[in-house]
Parts: sequence; C-alpha cells; structure tokens
Amino acid sequence: MQILMFAKQKGGVGASTLAREIGVLAAAEGKRVAFVDLDPQASLSKWWNRRTANATETPNPALAAVAPDQLLSVLTRIRQAGAADLVIIDVPPSVHGFMLGVMRTADFILVPVRPTSDDFEALPDIVGMIEQSRCPYAFVVTQAQTGRKIRAVDEAIPILARQGRVACVIRFRTAFPSAAAAAMTATEYEPGGKAAEEVRGLWDFVAVELRKQQAAEAQPALQAAS
Ligand SMILES: Nc1ncnc2c1ncn2[C@@H]1O[C@H](COP(=O)(O)OP(=O)(O)O)[C@@H](O)[C@H]1O
Ligand SMILES: [Mg+2]
Repeated sequence: MQILMFAKQKGGVGASTLAREIGVLAAAEGKRVAFVDLDPQASLSKWWNRRTANATETPNPALAAVAPDQLLSVLTRIRQAGAADLVIIDVPPSVHGFMLGVMRTADFILVPVRPTSDDFEALPDIVGMIEQSRCPYAFVVTQAQTGRKIRAVDEAIPILARQGRVACVIRFRTAFPSAAAAAMTATEYEPGGKAAEEVRGLWDFVAVELRKQQAAEAQPALQAAS
C-alpha cells in the first residue's frame, strides 16, 4: 500500500479536484484506491457521496471516513488488512500539527499552487513541514490562465523550481467544475479534452514517483535477503 498526500497553504488551489482525478485514474488502472478526506469542508466526501449514492458494487475509489487523530492507526489497519493499493489523503488548508506525522508515513506529497505571488508567499510554512518529514514532494501549478496571462506560468516555474520540483502545469479549465457538478472527473466527463490530458500527465508523474519509492523500500529487504 502506498500513500499519496496533498498539502497546501491555501484553500481553493485545486487539491480536492486533483485528488479525485488521480484517484479515478489509478482505479481505472486496477489499483484499489481509498480516499481519506481530512478537510472539515469535505468537498471530496460530498463529491464521493453524490457519485456513489446509487452504486450497486463496492465503489473504487472507496472513501475511508477518518478523524485526523485516528488517521495513523486507520492507515496501519488498512495496510495490515491489505485493503487498498493506494490511499489518497486530501487536506484542509494551512499547516496543522497532526500533518507532520501523516507526511512521515506518506510515499509522496503533491503541493498544488496557483501561479500568483500570494500563493508563493504562503508556501514556506508548508514546504518547511514537508522537508522536516523528509517525504519526497513536488509542486503542481494549478488554475494557470491560458492565453495572454501565460507569462504568469513562465514566471512561476523558476520561482517554484528554486524550492522544489514542479510536476506539471494544470491550466484553468471549465471541464473541472463541470465534471465535479456531474460527480465525475475531467477524464470521465471529457476524456478527449485538455483538462483530461493534463491530469493524465500528472498521474504519469506521480505513478513514476510512487514506483521509485516502492523500489527504494524494496532495496533494504533485497539486501537483507542476499
Ligand atoms: N484547473 C482548474 N480549472 C478550473 N477550475 C478549477 C481548477 N481546479 C479547481 N477548480 C475549481 O476551483 C474550485 C476549488 O477547487 P478545489 O479542488 O475544491 O480546491 P481545494 O481542495 O484546494 O480547496 C472548485 O470549484 C474547482 O472546481
Ligand atoms: Mg479541498
């Protein structure tokens, strides 16, 4: 079982949107995915509830309802039961004390950030916490305007790259809110669209990082066996 966590300093950056997109893409590849929604606003849970209201089979992604102080023990139980291949953790904005422990158990962290100076200036606290946890992470630029304001993205990438890696750029696409309204993801709602193409690129990046992490964990075990 691997854990992909989101982390962010601000609300509305697209974390829940990307959590849903990645969860659905991973499930389509046959992974058993479990969402964990730590945000009291519960966007991910509400979307999941609408999506699964009339489900006849066990939904994949599943949703694990967990209070933050129970999370580490629930993750251990999911791991021991072999109940999921990938757990995706969505988070509230800003830095909460309990998040450091979660980051330490995560295999990879994605930090969605809009390409604005206000967003960049908010990053140091959350990045500091991630670095303290030693979990590998990457930024993903979200809601980047297309067209004339494209310069904001050109400027964002070097600013972010000074602090960490940038997975990719997700542009402002109406397919995301439209898909959410239909309890879907962009890849389901408009599979041939640009939003879908961009999130597939993000999933490719994350999948490679998760495989690296798995290989790194297998290494000591292989050495011990030889
Ligand atoms: N790339 C995007 N393009 C257009 N709208 C987006 C994009 N990402 C998110 N949104 C919209 O912005 C709002 C906030 O997104 P959400 O994923 O809930 O952010 P967060 O979980 O970080 O608070 C939602 O209405 C969502 O549909
Ligand atoms: Mg959210």
